[in-house]
Amino acid sequence: MAKPRSTWRCQQCGHTEPRWVGRCSECGEFGTFTEEAPAASAPGPSSVAGIARPVTALADVAIADELRFSTGIRELDTVLGGGLVRGSVVLIGGEPGIGKSTLLLQAAGSLGARGVDVLYVCGEESVQQVRSRADRVGASTGISLLPEVDASVVEATVLAERPSVVIVDSIQTLFDPGLDGVPGSVGQVRATAARLVRLAKSHDVTVIVVGHVTKEGSIAGPRVLEHVVDTVLYFEGDADHTFRIVRAAKNRFGSVAEVGIFEMSAAGLAEVSQPSSALLAGRDGSVSGSVVMATMEGSRCLLVEVQALVTPSYLQMPRRLSVGIDTARVLQTLAILERRAGIALGSHDVYVSVAGGVRVSEPAVDLPLALAIASAYKDRPVGTATAAFGELGLTGDVRGVPHVEPRIREVGRMGFSEVLVPQGARATTTPLTVSAVATLAQAVHATLG
Ligand code: TYD
Ligand code: MG
Repeated sequence: MAKPRSTWRCQQCGHTEPRWVGRCSECGEFGTFTEEAPAASAPGPSSVAGIARPVTALADVAIADELRFSTGIRELDTVLGGGLVRGSVVLIGGEPGIGKSTLLLQAAGSLGARGVDVLYVCGEESVQQVRSRADRVGASTGISLLPEVDASVVEATVLAERPSVVIVDSIQTLFDPGLDGVPGSVGQVRATAARLVRLAKSHDVTVIVVGHVTKEGSIAGPRVLEHVVDTVLYFEGDADHTFRIVRAAKNRFGSVAEVGIFEMSAAGLAEVSQPSSALLAGRDGSVSGSVVMATMEGSRCLLVEVQALVTPSYLQMPRRLSVGIDTARVLQTLAILERRAGIALGSHDVYVSVAGGVRVSEPAVDLPLALAIASAYKDRPVGTATAAFGELGLTGDVRGVPHVEPRIREVGRMGFSEVLVPQGARATTTPLTVSAVATLAQAVHATLG
């Protein structure tokens, strides 16, 4: 019999090759192949399993009541679409250190306090470490800890203990003893995830899995799991800021439009009930280069501060740096400013950022961004009382955006006296001055003279 040979597997997409290659022919990534030892025994011919039960007619499937239950953390419930669904598998992804374990321990504590049995599988930290963190975030009752990395032991424990919720922290530490490959490799991550999914579906337990994503978003991360789980949540934010936004990337049981907004505190992640006030705290509107924007996060409106700094450039290629806004959008806005509003910045460095570490990816950022840059360039403040939103067309026109009403309402609620909106945007009576602008030139003239 021929000696079994090892294979090389792409850690990005799971594609295998008989030898090392620099670039994956499946997903096109470079340098993602690692060697995997040959399987101990060649798989035998597959046998056909008997059908356990007759096929069920769809209409005969009983609908269990109260499929959903609350985690007790309002923002988490919101992003889940109204709470956890029994028998579902939720993946929580994010960079290391962003707060995944903290949030799940808090959720475990809150579920435990409501009488839900939670099994917390901690493969990454010792039980002492989990205990000390639990003390910080105030989680105590109803949680059983299982320091284990063997997926078959986890499975057996769940069958013996019958918890309602199992939290696995993290999938990268779990391994399937029946498989070769180190924990965290694509093969292992897939196999252990498949076991957890089977467990959840056949025994009606809710499984929450943590998956680390690196800055590059690669290496056997949650990406390879997205299609096997029911719900995928990603943590956004960075370690330098306290804000964390949890966004749903996929949800079989709810909308992906909702987000959860948290703030990292000394006692874990706190729900932020007034995100606009928190984001605008400390803003000095009397300086140039600062414009408040009304942006939508899910069905909620947040006010964020768009900042710009424009300085004469000493470089052949002037610098353009952007934090929180897509660079392509900034470049396009600069081009529109030059051609349609007569503000040419070809010999200036331009820096833009959204305060608080928030990312704004919707087109409605165009107008506030352009105004912030124009304000910084002219060194004239837009004023403390004005907010704006609107998309810019390449012709310099200000185009309509969705959710005009909630945006205007939030601007009014936060005490602003004027808001610049795209022409045609209709608003019901409000104490606020709603100034419709048709073009960028008109908006610049109205705010900066
Ligand atoms: P953690 O939940 O361990 O991140 P992950 O599981 O995603 O890797 O978060 C760790 C960070 O959160 C760490 O840098 C410390 C900070 N933190 C607080 O600021 N306050 C707290 O109460 C806790 C528990 C953590
Ligand atoms: Mg962790």
